[in-house]
Amino acid sequence: MNASDPNKKTTVGTIDDEILAFTAGKDLVLDLQLAEADCYGSAAHVTMLSRMPVTPPVLTPAEADQVRAGLGTILQQVRQGAFEIQTEDQDVHLAVERQLTETLGDLGKKIHTGRSRNDQVAVDLRLFARDRLLDLIGDTAHLAEALTAFGETHQKVPMVGRTHMQPAMPSSVGVWGTSFAEAVLEDLSSLRHVYTLNDQCPLGAAAGYGVPLPIDRQLTSDLLGFSRPIHNVSHAINARGKLEMQILQALGQLMVTVSRIAQDLMLYTLPEFGYFRIPKAFGTGSSIMPNKNNPDVLELLRSKAALVLGYGQSISMILHAAPGGYNRDLQDTKEPFLEGLAVTRASVRILARCVEGLEVNPDRLRAAFDGGVFATDVALAKVAEGMPFRDAYHYVKEHLAELDSADPDEAIARKTHLGGTAGLDFGLYHDRIRTARAAAAADRSHVLNIKQNLIA
Ligand code: ARG
Repeated sequence: MNASDPNKKTTVGTIDDEILAFTAGKDLVLDLQLAEADCYGSAAHVTMLSRMPVTPPVLTPAEADQVRAGLGTILQQVRQGAFEIQTEDQDVHLAVERQLTETLGDLGKKIHTGRSRNDQVAVDLRLFARDRLLDLIGDTAHLAEALTAFGETHQKVPMVGRTHMQPAMPSSVGVWGTSFAEAVLEDLSSLRHVYTLNDQCPLGAAAGYGVPLPIDRQLTSDLLGFSRPIHNVSHAINARGKLEMQILQALGQLMVTVSRIAQDLMLYTLPEFGYFRIPKAFGTGSSIMPNKNNPDVLELLRSKAALVLGYGQSISMILHAAPGGYNRDLQDTKEPFLEGLAVTRASVRILARCVEGLEVNPDRLRAAFDGGVFATDVALAKVAEGMPFRDAYHYVKEHLAELDSADPDEAIARKTHLGGTAGLDFGLYHDRIRTARAAAAADRSHVLNIKQNLIA
């Protein structure tokens, strides 16, 4: 091939230069994130091939050991940032095969027996997502804990409860903090749900229709530590993209909570409110106005939520009219998926730090109570004396101007019912956080074990 030849010779045929660059697209860079998973997936596949009951064997157990050692070397290069995907490789899958063929000759050429890049990329994405979801579940539990601790520490500090953003009824910092802790815990259960959905092995589906070889799909699933193989070979391939969409929906749900917390913090840290303060070092300055210390971090959390929701939407758009079977469109679901996972994790971590650093100004919080905030409480006090509620409502409505500002501390001490200002069960939050953490820790040690057994 000379320099002016517009074609490039690849492992799978000669391809026009510009077409190759266009079709490989961002895989040349994005696939580096999947390189580790690709090594583990290949290690499981060659192990299975070496146990396949055929004569002559595709690979002997000793040859499989050699391939796994070669994969171990690649894994090290990946971790040192020294692994390369060349344009001619198109993606990580053929880059790994090329490198194994360069070092092991025919053995390298055998590893793709009985599989396709379609099931290979599907398994890589699931292995990658498994690790990232476990990271995210840990960080999300930490955010729930930060919000619970904030609420618990300041549980007795009164805070005006708002509807339509207008002052409404007496509430507390405890209710504010744990309202979001509870939302985050619900988001966490959606993360667990998609973790379970992800925990199924597509390997062996090959192009989407299986192969005429006695492959053992249960074995590769077990070797990779999945709960089970995906049963139907075509579904194993069609689930690509759909799974990413479902995961992004769970991430989007979490990001909506993140963004709403950020929005509340922007409001309540305004000088006009002064309820809370984020540490000075979390603010950023202006290039012209020396007085500024802006909550850019909170604003970016709001935009990140929009981005993550958009990534889910992008994938839905790619998928909704996709015919069954593999289509190259699926490659374009990779970037929004990888980005969504990264952005969500970074956001959750940053928000937890903001919450941990949050300072409370009880004086400003108490000063925000005016007589009107107690109007409903006054009406209900009349109900307690025997007046029908609607009469009490009208009586108070007609005498609003005469309402004295009552004691907010007393007002919040009076709501002792379940989940009210004086009826919050902080132990409940701690228990749920502990349970989520224990499940994630068990999964993490299972995954670690699996990896050690696959590539020493
Ligand atoms: N890079 C490709 C992707 O992400 C790998 C699968 C290619 N398969 C194919 N039949 N061209 O989808």
